[in-house]
Amino acid sequence: MKRLWISAVLAAGLALPAQAQDVADSVAPEMASGNSDKKMVTTEKFMVVAANPHASEAGFDVIKAGGNAIDAMVAVQLVLGLVEPQSSGIGGGAFLVYYDAQTGRMTTFDGRETAPASATPELFQNEDGEPLKFFDAVVGGRSVGTPGTVKLLYETHAKLGSMPWADLVAPAIKLATDGFEVSPRLAKVVNGDQKRLSRFETTRNYFFPDGKSLPVGHLLKNPEYAATLKAISEKGADAFYKGDIAKAIVKTVQNAEGNPGKLELADLANYKIKERPVVCAEYRSYEVCGMGPPSSGALTVGQILGQLNDYDLPSMNAGDPNAWRLIGDASRLAFADRGRYMADSDYVPMPTRGLIDPAYLKERGKLLSGDKALPKDKVVPGNPTWEHAMLLADDESIELPSTSHFSIVDANGNIVSMTTTIESGFGSRLMTNGFLLNNELTDFSFRTHRDGVPIANRVEPGKRPRSSMSPTIVKKDNKPVVVIGSPGGSRIIGYVATALIANLDWGMNIQEAVSMPHLINRFGTYDLEEGTAAEKLQPALEAMGYKTNTRALTSGLHGIVIADDGLQGGADPRREGLAVGE
Ligand code: GLY
Repeated sequence: MKRLWISAVLAAGLALPAQAQDVADSVAPEMASGNSDKKMVTTEKFMVVAANPHASEAGFDVIKAGGNAIDAMVAVQLVLGLVEPQSSGIGGGAFLVYYDAQTGRMTTFDGRETAPASATPELFQNEDGEPLKFFDAVVGGRSVGTPGTVKLLYETHAKLGSMPWADLVAPAIKLATDGFEVSPRLAKVVNGDQKRLSRFETTRNYFFPDGKSLPVGHLLKNPEYAATLKAISEKGADAFYKGDIAKAIVKTVQNAEGNPGKLELADLANYKIKERPVVCAEYRSYEVCGMGPPSSGALTVGQILGQLNDYDLPSMNAGDPNAWRLIGDASRLAFADRGRYMADSDYVPMPTRGLIDPAYLKERGKLLSGDKALPKDKVVPGNPTWEHAMLLADDESIELPSTSHFSIVDANGNIVSMTTTIESGFGSRLMTNGFLLNNELTDFSFRTHRDGVPIANRVEPGKRPRSSMSPTIVKKDNKPVVVIGSPGGSRIIGYVATALIANLDWGMNIQEAVSMPHLINRFGTYDLEEGTAAEKLQPALEAMGYKTNTRALTSGLHGIVIADDGLQGGADPRREGLAVGE
């Protein structure tokens, strides 16, 4: 106990050498003012925060017309698939964390893609059993999992929505028919991915009309997407999972030149979304709740925060290198557990409860009590308790930053926290019927075993690849107080955890918290966001023993704080998002 108290005093910055304290105090204001002068939005009744103004406005219109958060979710997602096609869409999957104001119940819905029934653990290996090069696996049909987003939208709407389905599909049909102006971000990412996008004719024709990369401001129409949505509007999810659209998806996947995939009509016809219990971890006086397996999101965010419970972060500030040592090493320890234990728990026994057991995290948190970066040999998986233990080897899977997150609070206090993806930017690069197909299967480990011991996140037929998506709702005194999530591959976990620390511990408002420069550590190297105050912490972090790497860290944190006197919204300045409401 005494040791812990001493470390807490050290951690509190009381013993920081004068010079280090100077760094902390001079960097802290810049960290809080963030990357931009984007202002927090405040409203009284409802709010929608999404990655593109068209999508936020579609959600706004639905709620203004009397719809609820689930209704708005449908409109937002279908518009995002049009205006931000690189990040999410009906060819992909999503996780929804939902809070029902009337019952006070929180639940989650899993619309994650599944591996085809004919997929084998060696899906991403060559004839010699060696893993394929990452992008050789991504581009083409092999990486395409059975999409889940349409069923997620349709079935949760049938259960929880209030407006007619067709009315919610209509805004995206109209925008696809009339056209929308290509945004600077879309133009930039199309131009940057020219070689891969040009590999397939349909994709090439859409993103490079007349052979030229789509310019900013170009009025882009997508009549094929409008036709697909019209069918879904009239016939529901079956129009997507059976019939002509399903046939077109399967044909596109199986005939992908150079890298065909295994998806079949039966995979689409048999696809099911799953309602799963919410996973909540304790953090100070809060409960941080989110998506459990097959996502590693809520568990890893919860582990990071849970290990920090005994450290007095609230008395430090965002410029304090010691705060970042604690956060960085808590994250490294959490990622060690993630790599060993986390995968689709329908297929692999997992110590889900043990991983966020407060007693386990308290013990693991004691590893952070020093004043230097943890040596590599100390960053190994822990031993959480579990009912059905299994010997597992450490994972090896790459996740690229893409994806989109939106947060919605409706006029009755219902909440949607949804993270949605087609995996890497533009997914598999295959396009059919006006939408891109995901490459979600490359979120699996390409290797199946290590030294004869199986890897939890290996490919198996029908299994869902492990995700990092972390749609989150935070509760205090059993009432929701923060809604947040982000894109960013496996860095999503760090983006969400640090934005929560900024808001809950350091008193930043939600806009400041999502704008705060990033410092992210997953596997040892500290990633520092280039061109920001985070770079100023580099010497101190290197003196503690970290390797550092300065780079762009393009989160897309979209958050809402539910305060006593209304709602406060923050949209990440690194993307094109917008908070709107009334
Ligand atoms: N493909 C991004 C994720 O699921 O984490």
